[in-house]
Amino acid sequence: MSVRPHPRDDATPPPGTGGGLEGPLVDRYGRVHDDLRISVTDRCNLRCVYCMPEDDLTFLPRAELLTFEEIARLGRVARALGVTSVRLTGGEPLVRRHLVDLVAQLAAVGFDDLSLTTNATLLAPLARPLAEAGLTRVNVSCDSLVPERFAAIRRRGDLATVLAAMDAAEAAGLVPLKVNVVVLRGQNDDEVLDFARFARETGRVVRFIEFMPLDAGGHWERDRLVPGTEVHATIDARWPLVGIDGHGAAPAERFAFADGRGEVGFISSVTQPFCGTCNRLRLTADGAIRNCLFSDDELSVRDVMRAGGSDEAVADVLRAAVGAKHPGHAINEPGFLAPRRSMSMIGG
Ligand code: 5AD
Ligand code: SF4
Repeated sequence: MSVRPHPRDDATPPPGTGGGLEGPLVDRYGRVHDDLRISVTDRCNLRCVYCMPEDDLTFLPRAELLTFEEIARLGRVARALGVTSVRLTGGEPLVRRHLVDLVAQLAAVGFDDLSLTTNATLLAPLARPLAEAGLTRVNVSCDSLVPERFAAIRRRGDLATVLAAMDAAEAAGLVPLKVNVVVLRGQNDDEVLDFARFARETGRVVRFIEFMPLDAGGHWERDRLVPGTEVHATIDARWPLVGIDGHGAAPAERFAFADGRGEVGFISSVTQPFCGTCNRLRLTADGAIRNCLFSDDELSVRDVMRAGGSDEAVADVLRAAVGAKHPGHAINEPGFLAPRRSMSMIGG
C-alpha cells in the first residue's frame, strides 16, 4: 500500500520558512528584522486629514481583533526570533480598553524597548500607569502649534490637551519624547521653524514626516508633500544642523543643532526611501503580519493561532512574511497603487 505524502511534505517552502523558533528573522537581502509594530485597534478618536476621512468609516468587528493573550503570545514568539523592539500603534492605541494590561504582558516578555505612538488625547491620565506597567517611551503626533490649525488638520481634539499630555509623559519618565509632525504644503509648512524652536526649548525630538500615500480617503497628492530636504534647509539656515549618525535601521535621519540645543529628525519615506535598512515587521489589529507599509502581502497569524497552531507554526508565519519581503517600496515608480489598507488599519 502506498502512502500519499501529506501535501505539505513535498511542497517547497517559500524562502524563509522552516526553522521554527531557531534563529533570527533575516530576509533575502540580509536585513535582520528585530523591530515589531503592533497595531492594537484600527479605531481612532481623531480624523486627521492625512489619515482618515471625516465619516463613512467602517471598523473591524471586535471578534476579529487579536486578544491581548494572542498579542502577547506573538510577542513571545517574536522575542525568541530576535525581535528586541516593540512599538504599539493603532489607529489610536489608547482607545483600546485596558491597554495598560497589554503593556504589562509585553513588558514581561523582556524587550529592550517597548514604546507607543499616540495622538496623546487620552495620554495624560494614563502616562504614569503605562510607565509603571513597563512602557519605555512615547511618540506623540502633533502637526501644529496653532490651536485652530491643529483643529483643522486633526478635525477633532485640541492642542492644549496634547501639550499637557507631553508634560505628563515626561513627568512619568517616558523619555526621550518624540513629536511626529506630518508636513503638509499650505497647511503647516510655515510652522517648520516654530517646531524647530519647540525642539530647542523643550528637548523633545521633533520629527518631520513626509505625507505618504496611506490616507484612507485617497487624497494623497505629491503636491501636498513637503520634501524633507526642504524642511532641513529651512531649519539649517536659521539654526545650523549637524548629522548625528548614520541612518542605522531607524527611519528618521537625525540631526542635532550645532549649538548643542536639541535634536530634530526627518522621515523622508517618499523622497528618500530607507528600505535598504528596513528592520520592521507589522502586526495588524486583526492579526495579519505585513512586511511593509506599502505592500498588500499579508499572512494571518490569527488564523494559525485560532486553528490551534503551535508556537513553531506561528514562528513560521513570521519567517514566511520576512522571506517574502521585497527590497523596497515602489511609491516613485509609474503605476504605483496605494496599499488597500490605510495607515490606521496597518499601524504606523
Ligand atoms: N503620511 C505620513 N504619516 C502619516 N501618519 C498617519 N498617516 C500618515 C500619512 N498618510 C503618521 C501620524 C503618526 C503616525 C502613526 O503615522 O502622524 O505620527
Ligand atoms: Fe520597510 Fe516597506 Fe517601509 Fe520600505 S516601505 S521602509 S521596505 S516597511
